[in-house]
Parts: sequence; structure tokens; C-alpha cells
Amino acid sequence: MNQSTVMCNISKDRFNYIIMQTSKREEFLLKGYGKYVLLLPLVFFLSLKFVSAGLSVDNLRCEYLVNPLGIQNTNPRLSWILTSEERNQVQTAYQILVSSTPEKLASNNADLWDSGKILSNQTNQIVYNGKQLQSRDECYWKVRVWDKNGVVSESRAANFSVGLLNYSDWKAKWITHNIEPFTGDKYEELYLPPARYLRKSFKLGKQIKSAKVYASALGLYELRLNGQKVGDACFTPGWTDYNKRVYYNTYDVTELLKEGENAIGAILADGWYSGYLGYALYVKLDKVRAFYGESPSFIGQLEIIYTDGTSEILATDQSWKANLGPIREADILMGETYDARLEETGWDQAGFNAANWKKADLGLKLSGALEAYPGVLVKHMEEIQPIEMTEPEKGTYIFNLGKNFAGIVRIRVSGERGTKITLRYGEMLHDDGSLMTENLRKARATDTYILKGEGIETWEPRFTYHGFQYVEVTGLSEKPDLSTITGIVMNSDTKPASTFECSSEMNNQLYQNILTTQFANFFDIPTDCPQRDERLGWTGDAQLYSVSAAYNADVSAFFTKWMQDVDDGQLWYGAYPIFAPLPYIRPYHVPHSPAWSDAGIIIPYNMYKIYGDTLLLRRMYPGMKRFMDFQLSESNGFLRPGSGNNYGDWLSLGAETSKDLIASAYFAYDTKMMSEIAQCLNQEEDAAYYQHLFQNIKKDYARQYMNEDGSLKEHTQTAYALSLYMGLYPENLKEQGAAFLAKMITENGNRFSSGFIGTKHVMLVLSDFGYNDLAYSLFTQTEYPSWGYSVVNGSTSIWERWNSYTKETGFLGGKTRSAMNSFSHYSFGAVAEWMFSKAAGINTDGPGFRKIIIKPSIGEGVKFMNASYNSINGRIVSNCKKRDDRLELHIEIPANTTAQIYIPSVEKTKIREGKTLIGKSNDFSIIGINGTYTVLQAGSGVYDFIIEK
Ligand code: BGC
Repeated sequence: MNQSTVMCNISKDRFNYIIMQTSKREEFLLKGYGKYVLLLPLVFFLSLKFVSAGLSVDNLRCEYLVNPLGIQNTNPRLSWILTSEERNQVQTAYQILVSSTPEKLASNNADLWDSGKILSNQTNQIVYNGKQLQSRDECYWKVRVWDKNGVVSESRAANFSVGLLNYSDWKAKWITHNIEPFTGDKYEELYLPPARYLRKSFKLGKQIKSAKVYASALGLYELRLNGQKVGDACFTPGWTDYNKRVYYNTYDVTELLKEGENAIGAILADGWYSGYLGYALYVKLDKVRAFYGESPSFIGQLEIIYTDGTSEILATDQSWKANLGPIREADILMGETYDARLEETGWDQAGFNAANWKKADLGLKLSGALEAYPGVLVKHMEEIQPIEMTEPEKGTYIFNLGKNFAGIVRIRVSGERGTKITLRYGEMLHDDGSLMTENLRKARATDTYILKGEGIETWEPRFTYHGFQYVEVTGLSEKPDLSTITGIVMNSDTKPASTFECSSEMNNQLYQNILTTQFANFFDIPTDCPQRDERLGWTGDAQLYSVSAAYNADVSAFFTKWMQDVDDGQLWYGAYPIFAPLPYIRPYHVPHSPAWSDAGIIIPYNMYKIYGDTLLLRRMYPGMKRFMDFQLSESNGFLRPGSGNNYGDWLSLGAETSKDLIASAYFAYDTKMMSEIAQCLNQEEDAAYYQHLFQNIKKDYARQYMNEDGSLKEHTQTAYALSLYMGLYPENLKEQGAAFLAKMITENGNRFSSGFIGTKHVMLVLSDFGYNDLAYSLFTQTEYPSWGYSVVNGSTSIWERWNSYTKETGFLGGKTRSAMNSFSHYSFGAVAEWMFSKAAGINTDGPGFRKIIIKPSIGEGVKFMNASYNSINGRIVSNCKKRDDRLELHIEIPANTTAQIYIPSVEKTKIREGKTLIGKSNDFSIIGINGTYTVLQAGSGVYDFIIEK
């Protein structure tokens, strides 16, 4: 270890780090003896015999985000991903360097934090522990890791900056442009006020070093600087309980500013703050819109640092000018109207004459907190061209965009000034080819564009979005073609994390449909659906789907943000709400429900399992305890009545599971999780208390719902699935319970009768109790009701109901005018959890995929199945292929993790890895036989197993 050999490591295609193997070398790096780098090629040759592939360290994140600007947490959590092609490669130590400038970081001058060399394999959730950070601090960081041979690798630089932490940092005032209040009949007439335009010209007299804007709105805003949109996010600053907190966004605008004349502006719309929300109009609530405030307002602060070291702040105040503009209507549910004749060219640029603009009005004072946005911004993700255009009626054109997604369209049209083009959106067509809009209920979902009559005009809305596959266009002066419309897919930019492919084309399409519907509904919050007048963050849907969501995409920051909404929505008596944010409560409807409210415990618990996130648990723990107290206070003995706005096994088919049973099963499940959560937070007493409570519930539950032979008094698929999944069966009756469930499904023709609550649990339980082939038969089923039925009938998304459409009855049992029938509801897509955790068998053992379990179980009728998952510790692959004479498993385990690999055979002599019999390999060990599997203990690496028949 005393050698001072310096090596150069070429990782794949880049010459990206210097490697040294001794403490002297560390010193070398720290002191930045860059000149020696010149000697590297020589040294490289001299030391070839020591070269090891080492670790690559990449994907640096701060609070789950890549290079976030304006964070609120001054002790943020840092993480990175390691890759290596070597087997059994690990990180033995790390060192984090954080500097106040990129230059300092480059010369290893860690003036904010040098963690020192920490002997640890931790690669995520590492809390910054350096100098106390202040508002506006810039932090540049990198990490150095040591592998199993002491070989050092260094990351590229990443950065984060601190936001405005204190009230006193905000010089800006909330501003708006007041307009006449509405006096019409709120139930008869839509009130859709125009967007407000705000602007200010200003002069910068010195050379600019850097500049940032901090901006927010009560409502939605688009920030403009010198004629350009700032950033690429939409629907900022997102939806929160605005009375409790509002988020601001931070933008680096250095490149957009110039010395001399500049102009800044904002377009402001009602959004979630003052627009129509959910079903309020449909059910005629007292209020139908403007749940947080009558009119939107904007706040913004441009902070410029000059090269001479001085700085300046330009903040919103009444010196800003205000006006209305071409956006005449802008509502999330109802749509947008744009009159291009009213455009004022150059309004957001210097030199514009704003003489006829008014002085901005002061907006409302904020009652809650103003904090940095912690979530995942909504963006334009993809552009798609229509695949077909039809003309069901003269002059009415319908474009088919090929899939049912959330977003908007861009139109490219020409015509006479004043020509009005109307766009309507739908998920399905009626038999006569016309657009089906009945399922939108009160969401008008109509956009209008009025031409200015100047050549080809291109337009897309900003403050509305729709859930649709078809768009109907009327009012065109000329026959359009496929290039008239471009679909723009929008969602929170949660990075895709999974791949899945198997020999069944139907199931591959099902997987695509699941993804499409997840993305369509992960729109700042997890909405139930993107099309009708609902789009609420229903907690039941989200808890059921949360693990599926996490397999499919990196939802760490997304759920971090939304769990704050759930926490903010916690009711005074302790229950979590049925949807969050919770803008209103329907009269005579209790705003909590079993299996919905439980999201407040289930989702943080799942995030802990998936990402190893203990901060979320810690933050929510007091609220979780209040929720548990509420549940106990409502209980009868240790059983819960199905109180509240109880939805039961929502949208089940013909089988009724009692609401009481569902409530008690979830109560027990919460209690079990709470015991584990308390343990993790070192709350030993609580852990014991919840453990004891669980045992009591379990006893009462068995007494109330079970027969001695293991059958249930309520003989439904859901009742069995919940009782087994939630650990409510006594040990000696479990197998019988599972057998009853299996029998019931077989008797039902291998089809479901369960709804939202039961379905995913049926799948998980069948695989857990050895009925894997039965689970596969449900997965591959194409007869009604099944996932396959929707796929073979052309679906491109997940439907709200098993019977959203059937061949015999059309849309929803023949009631074509029926309203509650979405074709983009992710809830039934929760089978993704089974696809990854059971079929492909990719699981975490404990928190955060540090220890992995790979237990693939490919079922009857499926010839191959390839799946991958980008975990917080790197990419895991589980591919399985059946050949005539053998089974092939291709497994990839990320660096710095270990895995138990379950090989589906107990005959060791018939299992090879590559060419070597497993018993002879030094790369992993056989740890035993488990049922029909041989279990191996392995480290990182790529493994190819062949299992002979
Ligand atoms: C939503 C559901 C939600 C339910 C409550 C519906 O209108 O679309 O997904 O969970 O209400 O039962």
C-alpha cells in the first residue's frame, strides 16, 4: 500500500480520472499537483499490470435532483451511481468535496465541505455536513470513491445552489392585474377570465457575471426575458395547498441578459389556484372555482451579480406594468382561447411602448410559506404526429394521435383574420366516427384560436392540458393534412427507470399502456385521470400504484413533493384526505376513507424500501402517529368499521367485499408498517407498541372473518388477497387461504372479480403462495374482464374500469352517455409491481436495493421475459429465456450491491454460469436450497446461467 504508482484509467471512451493507490496519492490529488498529470501516459504504461476496471461514478444528485438551483434544505442529501463491469466490485470509501466556485473544486479546494475519506459503501442519502449554508450559496461538488482494491475514481463536477431561505430575502411584492369580478350565474355560465400580462423594462449598466430569477405565482406563470421563455417547465409553480405553502422556482438567466436595455415579463393564469378544479361544478358545490383566491398574482426577483463584484435586485412591485393580451381564456379543465389579433409584438422585449399598460396592482399577501419547489417539473416531453385524419362530417376533422396521452396540440394554420378554429379533445370515437366527450363531464376541454391572418400561424396553449387520443378541429378555411396538428406529450419529467419485454405481444402492449397512463397522470401530482373534471390527487389510487410507479420511473422527488401535499391535507382529527391537495370538502361527504387515507403511511414506507429514504419517514412520522390514533379511536375492539367516505373495493365486478373488512385489513397493515418505521427511526417503544397492536388486530380479525378451515366468511378474491398480503392469516391457515383464493379464480375462468383494492394483491399473493402459473393466466388472459381484453380491443392506455368498454355493450355497459368512464386511469396498471417483483423477480431485501433479490419466475406460455430496473444503486437486469433443453438467465447486478439469485432448479450439477458449473465458481457462493430454487449469493457483475432440463 506504500507504492506511489500513479495510474491512468480509461473508462470506456473517456479519459476521466486519475487513479492512485496509496494515501500519498490522495494527498497528491488533494494538493492538486496537476503538473504531474503530464507524466501520466508514461506512468500508465509502467503500471499496466495494476490496472483494474475500477468504478465509474456518475449521475450525481442533490435531493434526488440533477444540479438543482435554489434548494430549501441546507443539509441536502447527496447521491451518486456507481457502475463497473467487474464482478464483486464495491465502494470501500468515499470522499465528498464541496466548494464555493468551480475553480476551487477543480483544484480540490473544498472550502465548504471536505467529508474526508469515509470508510463506507453508502452512495446515497448522504447528508451535507459542511459549513452552514446561507441563502443564495453556490455549491460545486464531486465525489471520489475507492473500490475494493483501493483504486480511486472521481466524478465530474455537479452543482446545487441554495434558494431564498428567509422572508427578508424577498424584496419582491406579489403583483397582479385586477379585472372586473364575475356577476353571472356560476352554474349556468363558465367564468374564464383572460390571462394577465406583467412587464418591466430595465437597464443594466455593467458587465454581468451571473443572474438568477426566483419566481412564483398564486396561479400559473410563464416567465419571459428579452422575448424568450425562461426555462422549459410548464404549469409552474405546481399545485399545493396555497394557504399553507407555495413553491418558487429558480432560474439561471445569465445568458438571457445583456448590458443595456432589457425587459422581463410574466404571463399569469388562474391555474389550480383560482380556476375550475375537480368535480365542483359537476356536483354544484357552493363554490365552483377559485378555491384558494379569486385572482392570480405573481412574484419575481431578478438578482444580478456584476463582474465588479457588485449586485442588484430587480423585484416585482407596482412599477411593473400590467395589461391583458391575446390569451382570452386560460383554464386547466376548460381550455384556452387565443385571439392572435390582440398580440402586442415585443411586449416582453426592450424598447416596447407600454404607454397604454396600467400600473400593476398589488396581489394578496401570502398566508403560508414560500419554499423552493422540491418536485419534478412538468415539461413538454415528446412530439407526436397524427397517424390518421377523418372527416365524419363536412368541415369537421378528427386527428388520431395514436395513443391516449396527456398534453396539448400545436396547430399550423392559415386563413383570414378573425377566422375561429375550435379544438375539442376526446379519448374515444363513437361508432359514427364522432368524438366521444361524454366522459369529460364538465371539463369543457376546448381550445380556440382566432387567426390574425398573417401567413402560416402556429399556436399551442400554455395553461391548459387535456387527456386525449383524438382531436377534433373545426373552423378551418382549408382542408388540413396530418401536418396541421402536432401532439405534445406533457408530464412531470420523472426519468423512465424500467424496460420490459416478453414473448407475448399483448403483454408488451400492456406494459406500454401502463407507462403511457402513468406519465399521463404524473402531472405535478399523481392525478386519477387527465381528461374529465377531476384530475385530483386521489390517495387510494396513488398508494396502490406507488411501487409500480417507482419501478417505471424515478419518482423519488415526485413523491417527496406530493407527500408534503398529503401531509398538508391531513385533517384536524388525524385522518389523511381522500385526495391531496384538498381544495374542498363535499357537503355530507367525509373526506377520509380506508385504503385511501392509508397513503400517508404506505407511500413513505414504500419510498423507504425503494430509495432508502428515512427523511420522508422522519418528517411524516408525527402525522402518521396521529393517523394511527384516529384509526384506533374509531375502532371497535381492534377492528375498524368502514367509516368515512368508504369506497370499498372500488369498481369491483360483481363481488362485494365488506367495507369493514377492507378497513380492518388496512388498519392492520398500517400497524405492521408503523412498527417497522418506528424501528427504523429508533423509536423502540413505539415499535413494540405497534407490534403488539398488530397482534391484537390480527386476533380480532381472524375471529371476525375467518373459518377454521382457512376459508373466509366473505368469499371474495379481494378478501383473501388482502388477508394474505397483509399478514392476517394465522401461520397454520395461510396455505389453505391461498388455496381457496386459487380455487375461486380457477372457478371464475381465470378471471378477476376484484376492483382497485384487490387486484394487485391477488397477483402478488398468487405468486407468493406458489400459484405462479395461475397469476400468469390472469396476466395473459384476453377474455373479459382482463388487462388483455382492453389490449386486444385496441387500447393504448389503462382504463378506469374492467368494463369501460366491451364489445357487446360499448362504452361502460351500453350507457354511452355515462360520465365516470376514463380511459386513462393508472390504478389497474398496478400489475406492473407484479411484473417486476414477481415475474422478473427484481426485489429489494431491506431498504434501497443495496441488497437485491433476483427470483425470476417465468410462467406457462411465456417463452422469454427481459426486464430491467434502474434502482437507486444502479441498473438491475433479469432476463429469462426458455429453450427446448434448457433455461437461460441473464442477470446484471450493479456495482456495490449484493444479490441473492434464485435459480429455478435444485440440481446443482445442471446449472452452469458461463461454462463453469455453479459449484466451481469463485465469483459467487451457493447458500442453499429454497423450495424449488438453488440460491446463490453474488456481488456485482453480469452473470449468464444455463439451467439444463
Ligand atoms: C376517481 C378514482 C378515485 C375515486 C374514489 C373517482 O372519481 O376517479 O380514481 O379513487 O373517485 O373512489
